[in-house]
Amino acid sequence: MQLNSFSHNSKIIVFGASGAIGEAIVNEFLEFSTVEKIYAISRSSKKFDDQKVITKFFDYNDENSLKTLADEINQEIDIVFIATGLLHDENLQPEKSIRDLNINNLQQNFLVNTIGPALIAKYFLSKLKKDSKAVFASISARVSSISDNQLGGWYGYRASKSALNMIIKNLAIENNRQNNQKIIIGLHPGTVQSKLSQPFTKNYDPNKLFTPQFSAKCLIKVLENLQKEDSGKIFAWDQQEIAP
Ligand SMILES: NC(=O)c1ccc[n+]([C@@H]2O[C@H](COP(=O)([O-])OP(=O)(O)OC[C@H]3O[C@@H](n4cnc5c(N)ncnc54)[C@H](OP(=O)(O)O)[C@@H]3O)[C@@H](O)[C@H]2O)c1
Repeated sequence: MQLNSFSHNSKIIVFGASGAIGEAIVNEFLEFSTVEKIYAISRSSKKFDDQKVITKFFDYNDENSLKTLADEINQEIDIVFIATGLLHDENLQPEKSIRDLNINNLQQNFLVNTIGPALIAKYFLSKLKKDSKAVFASISARVSSISDNQLGGWYGYRASKSALNMIIKNLAIENNRQNNQKIIIGLHPGTVQSKLSQPFTKNYDPNKLFTPQFSAKCLIKVLENLQKEDSGKIFAWDQQEIAP
């Protein structure tokens, strides 16, 4: 199997390789004979049992860890894929009401969902190949769409993902002033079995809940079909564009 629209010795960086979707993305990319090297980056330095995979560490709380990583990965890259994200953790639950807002939750959401991917762009966008198709993709979420917001709630998560979409649009505009083939996009992976979704999918139709592997296959198909004019947009797993 080959990645048809990318170079035939592709180098890929996956941030958040310890997450359900990030791990599946690494494993799906390994299925392609044209993928030469994958840098799997996570704060736990998760290992993969394949010689093509190089494990590295980063931490969004430490901008210097991204700078160090960028210095270490001193080569041209075909795809930067960001699969990090925060909806809840042991100290933080998504807000149901304005009463639940607090400074720590909002800061954490924005750190992981907006600021982190923006800083990855700062250090890694310049590494993408200029003369063949190259993609910077960051997983956003359908709930980032302001026009599609019917339910409210999840203030920090929704707002930080909407802000990520704005960063993606800005990056695309700035990049388009340069003459190259880089494409910058956001992705919605569907509703996927993972630690992040688990508390909220108990009553979800099991037929509509994706495995990480299925989502990863679909997202790679989206990357394969991207054209230069798609830069700045957000696409769902089924290749449909999501309205801002
Ligand atoms: N699952 C869904 O239904 C769904 C739907 C829409 C959008 N998404 C988006 O898809 C992406 C992947 O989520 P997932 O479902 O695969 O969730 P997941 O399994 O919980 O993975 C989340 C990833 O983010 C990393 N992360 C969290 N906080 C971090 C921090 N402070 N610094 C560095 N890394 C951090 C985690 O690292 P650790 O392993 O170290 O915690 C993990 O690698 C996220 O952007 C999420 O918002 C998911």
